[in-house]
Amino acid sequence: MDSLDSGQKFSPRQDPDWDTTLQFLPASDTRQLEKKPGRRKKLWIGLGLLLSAAALALLTGLLVWHFHLRSDVRVRRVYIGSMGITNQRFLSEYEDPDSPQFTDLATLVSQQLKLIYSKNSVLSKYFKGSTVQAFSEGDGSDSVMAYYQSEFDVPVPQQTSLDEAIESLEPPAGSQQGRQGRVLLRPTDALNVNSVISRAIDPRLTRKSLFVRKSFNIHVREAGIIQSPGFPDSSYPPNIYLQWRLRADPGHRVRLDFHTLILEDDCQQDFIKIYNSLAPIEHSALTEQCGYPHDSLSFLSSGNVLLLTLVTSEEKNFPGFRANYSQIPLTEQNCGGTLAGNKGSFSSPFFPSNYPPQTTCVWNIEVPKEKFVKVQFNKFFMGNQSNQCPNDYVDVNGQRLCGRTLKSTVITSQSNKMTIKFHSDSFYVDQGFTAEYEAFVPTNPCPGRFQCTNNLCINKTLHCDGWNDCGDSSDEDNCTCDVSQMKCQNGHCKPKFWECDGSDDCGDNTDEENCVKCKAGEFSCRDGRCIPEKLKCNGKDDCADGSDESKCEKSLVLQRCSEFTFRCRDGRCISKLNPECDEEQDCEDGSDEDDCQCGIRPYRSSRIVGGQESREGEWPWQVSLHIKGTGHVCGASVLSRRWLLTAAHCVQDNGPNKYSQADQWEALLGLHVQSQTNEWTVRSNIKRIIAHQDYNPLSYDNDIALMELDTEVTLNQNIWPICLPSPTYDFPAGQEAWITGWGATREGGAAATVLQKAEVRIINSTVCKSLMNDEVTDRMLCAGVLKGGVDACQGDSGGPLSVTGPGGRVFLAGVVSWGDGCARRNKPGVYTRMTKYRRWIKEKSGV
Ligand code: ARG
Repeated sequence: MDSLDSGQKFSPRQDPDWDTTLQFLPASDTRQLEKKPGRRKKLWIGLGLLLSAAALALLTGLLVWHFHLRSDVRVRRVYIGSMGITNQRFLSEYEDPDSPQFTDLATLVSQQLKLIYSKNSVLSKYFKGSTVQAFSEGDGSDSVMAYYQSEFDVPVPQQTSLDEAIESLEPPAGSQQGRQGRVLLRPTDALNVNSVISRAIDPRLTRKSLFVRKSFNIHVREAGIIQSPGFPDSSYPPNIYLQWRLRADPGHRVRLDFHTLILEDDCQQDFIKIYNSLAPIEHSALTEQCGYPHDSLSFLSSGNVLLLTLVTSEEKNFPGFRANYSQIPLTEQNCGGTLAGNKGSFSSPFFPSNYPPQTTCVWNIEVPKEKFVKVQFNKFFMGNQSNQCPNDYVDVNGQRLCGRTLKSTVITSQSNKMTIKFHSDSFYVDQGFTAEYEAFVPTNPCPGRFQCTNNLCINKTLHCDGWNDCGDSSDEDNCTCDVSQMKCQNGHCKPKFWECDGSDDCGDNTDEENCVKCKAGEFSCRDGRCIPEKLKCNGKDDCADGSDESKCEKSLVLQRCSEFTFRCRDGRCISKLNPECDEEQDCEDGSDEDDCQCGIRPYRSSRIVGGQESREGEWPWQVSLHIKGTGHVCGASVLSRRWLLTAAHCVQDNGPNKYSQADQWEALLGLHVQSQTNEWTVRSNIKRIIAHQDYNPLSYDNDIALMELDTEVTLNQNIWPICLPSPTYDFPAGQEAWITGWGATREGGAAATVLQKAEVRIINSTVCKSLMNDEVTDRMLCAGVLKGGVDACQGDSGGPLSVTGPGGRVFLAGVVSWGDGCARRNKPGVYTRMTKYRRWIKEKSGV
């Protein structure tokens, strides 16, 4: 799609199709509320306060008595349940709640429930009525599952005994599903009931404030889309409860894949919940999601039904969701089986989608006789970690594993066989695992390699190199440090240049202690001088370089400015570290909070080597710069509706390629996947390119350039400017930062199609200079992961190095500039240091 220019997208508006009973009260006449000034005002106020306090106390007492002590006050209690019926055949008419067949069977179910409740003194006493919500095929061939809601009016003190009575209807786990339901109606009407399960309804579904309740019945034989009301043009309405009942053909599963999901962050307010059922029965809940989840959002049912619910509250409404539904035959993706051969791989059913509930798979691995088996789980997401793993688990030769981890886990057998069982229970699902197995000779488990305590094999050169390559540090234990290394207290050896770089490399922080030559009770100034600790943040510049007054909690107005202190518009300097756009006014003139429409993910709160895919809208300042007719060449950042910032080396002529000419370029804003534009993407021509006048193509010094768009863009959920740091902004060594781009995903590799992100750390400049042969100038900033494996690469140039500031806003710390290869060990990425160019940007662009 080409450039799109529609107004603000998420101003809440009323959708005409949207069935709502919401009404607004007329505003009261404010004049009536104005008080006439009285003469003995104070006296009256005092008396009034006293009286109101007395009334309040009385009221509280009454309420406590009313709700807790009086036993005749009743509350409504709602249970949602399912009933398995074995002497009925499922008719297609049961899919339609308005059909006479539905009504007939529903009446029988209601009668049956009434009978069941009548056998229990507690239930019969408080029972009000039941409604049947839906039917589906049951487990057997001649069977039906009914989903119902039963209501009771119960005295407050009796609520627990009611819950207990409801649960006592269920046969205890393990026993044959019950006979208790075979109650005598007229013989022709009698339902053969083999299970009754009900649970108290999630209280958020019975909130009084929910104005709109609606159900949609969808047969998923034909694949389709469901989305929240108003998506994507406006936010979802407040106070709604919607449910989508999804039904597949018998012998099929329902599959639901979310394309977008952006809700309020607080699940108590807005959320979606998915059930392996047609009614919101707690024990069939598969997941609950809110905010902007990063986990896998593909779900599968175990049978042929699935329920999606959406609940919203009054405040903070967000874009909502769009999801694709479809059906797949139950026989597809049969998991488990026999695995032979010396190596191979396997994974949980439907990985990387969430595995379906109530699923068991068994893999039998058998390798040549004289060998043993080793299994390595690379990704492992199996619900919560708990003792004995009673819910979802993987069983390896009798040992149960559960929980979630990104670290590799290795398990070895003592024979040539291994049995692995995957099991999911009936509720809450997760992403599952991927695993590789390998045969090995028992006397030599890691031929030519180092064996970690956790059985992982790693390259010998990684032993005692300062990096925890095993994951359990066993490759760094009991090492003798060589001359280039320092010894940590815990016995590990680390490269000397990691000492005092602001990050805890030893693991016990001993590489960061004693970094300062000052004594206890002293503060070390940036120039290395020591001053008494108590002079820090006293408003006086005792270091004479301002550094003792630059990192203070409170913002004092200083007598003198320094290169480390923030200068307000009125010219005065304050002592707080990074005060700009932190949502607190620090300057008397408020100038530290001016121009702060930046660095947020608008509707959220709502390449890169070693990175991962980002979510759409996660980096709204990221731009893809295309050469017309060629495609992606460089990254850039959005500074305002008119200006982009990139690297000067991206806009240099290169033989026949006239990269310095504005008309060669095209900017794609709000892009997520290369070659896939959507309603949030804006394609724009470039009017003007301003490369830094002192850019040095040999040293990459001053590698920065501005691009002016030919028309202003409208900001949207995927397009938003990043904040620019003032010259005194501090990005300390060790701080986390993110790099993003569509560049190569390994050195010499191909470019990414989906925007990648990776987390790196700011690296101390002195350390970086020595690692990069002194080619790093003061106008450059280093960031990376010294262990290697994570870095920017070809095609990421010009893109942002993003750092989240104290108020949660994201600042541009650097522009991707150069590196020595990509992601090599001890070769960090080098970035243009943004704090050095604040004035230049203002002068050239006005931003
Ligand atoms: N110059 C490269 C480009 O044009 C980016 C280099 C970044 N390299 C690195 N290892 N951080 O895309």
